Amino acid sequence: MIKAFIRDIPKAELHIHIEGSLEPDLMFAIAERNKLIRPFNSIEEVRSAYQFTHLKSFLDVYYEGAGVLMQERDFYDMTWAYLKRAHAQNVRHTEIFFDPQAHTSRGVSFETVITGMHRALVDGQRLFGISSKLIMCFLRHLSADLAMDTLHQALPFKEWIIGVGLDSCEVGHPPEKFTRVFDKALEEGFLTVAHAGEEGPVEYIHQALEKLRVSRIDHGVRCVADTQLVKKLVEAQIPLTVCPLSNVRLHVFDSIKKHNLKHMLDLGLCVTVNSDDPAYFGGYITENFLAVQEGLNLDYNDIYRLVKNSFEATFLDKQIKQGLITELDTFISGYNQKDIRRHKGKTFAHTIHQSALNNKSYDRESFGSA
Ligand code: ADE
Ligand code: ZN
Repeated sequence: MIKAFIRDIPKAELHIHIEGSLEPDLMFAIAERNKLIRPFNSIEEVRSAYQFTHLKSFLDVYYEGAGVLMQERDFYDMTWAYLKRAHAQNVRHTEIFFDPQAHTSRGVSFETVITGMHRALVDGQRLFGISSKLIMCFLRHLSADLAMDTLHQALPFKEWIIGVGLDSCEVGHPPEKFTRVFDKALEEGFLTVAHAGEEGPVEYIHQALEKLRVSRIDHGVRCVADTQLVKKLVEAQIPLTVCPLSNVRLHVFDSIKKHNLKHMLDLGLCVTVNSDDPAYFGGYITENFLAVQEGLNLDYNDIYRLVKNSFEATFLDKQIKQGLITELDTFISGYNQKDIRRHKGKTFAHTIHQSALNNKSYDRESFGSA
């Protein structure tokens, strides 16, 4: 039952690298039409290359895969393929990372990259009703000067980009390396986010907050090692965009059962669930929810809170955000009509709403299990 609830609930996704959504079959088709030597000989070979020991070993494969993208149409097709899957999983709003330097470094123009993606996003809104934002990430293993160049290339397309982020190999590339670039980005009106505390130390989360003035932390699972930091994140309700299947595939946690998402949620952190690089890590947003629900024994209220956190954490205007939250709450009420599950005279929706109002979890024992 809870599995159907997870599939059906309207969702927002806030941590998805569009290049990480490139499935092997599309990668092959694009390589073929661009007359490129394929990075792999067969789809089986691709899949068997997806055995990662840590972040760096994944990124090597990820950049190789992204290397097939040459024309505007390629960026359109990749983005469109993601939107189709997101729509099928009831994603109502998505905030998408892209890595321009992975392409401009190969001679593909910034304009080619962004125009293809933007066109697909416009079609996604028109045909699926999915709203979206783009977040441009700087590759942290490259220099701050190269990041600044990239920021300048983005300025003519400012209207299409809500914020800037920081990704790639974390350890050895602290957020403070990019302070000047993020200062300039903020001055230009971009919001900021950064990957921090995925593989890197807790200190990087502090730096992202203080030096890069981020609105959200991407991953951030290592924050639990620092009580003062947790207090700060809870008080300010700084969202953490957590990616459970990614964390397991990259050995941040030994298994989904060992993931600290439920612990973080119980600490009062504004945790959200996302897919990161779904083509590489075994699933899109719904598969991530299903995995944590089963692995951590999450209840309906946990799922509702995670989804609500995502909508709260979006970079949407207040009114549009509120509209989506109302849609979420309408879904909860409607769900109740379809699946009348009464307990002590109270409906499921009533129980969930009451607990949200009281800001506490309902009692799993008294409600019964999924
Ligand atoms: N780029 C794509 N996926 C990433 C991840 N999980 N961490 C850092 N950089 C990335
Ligand atoms: Zn990521």
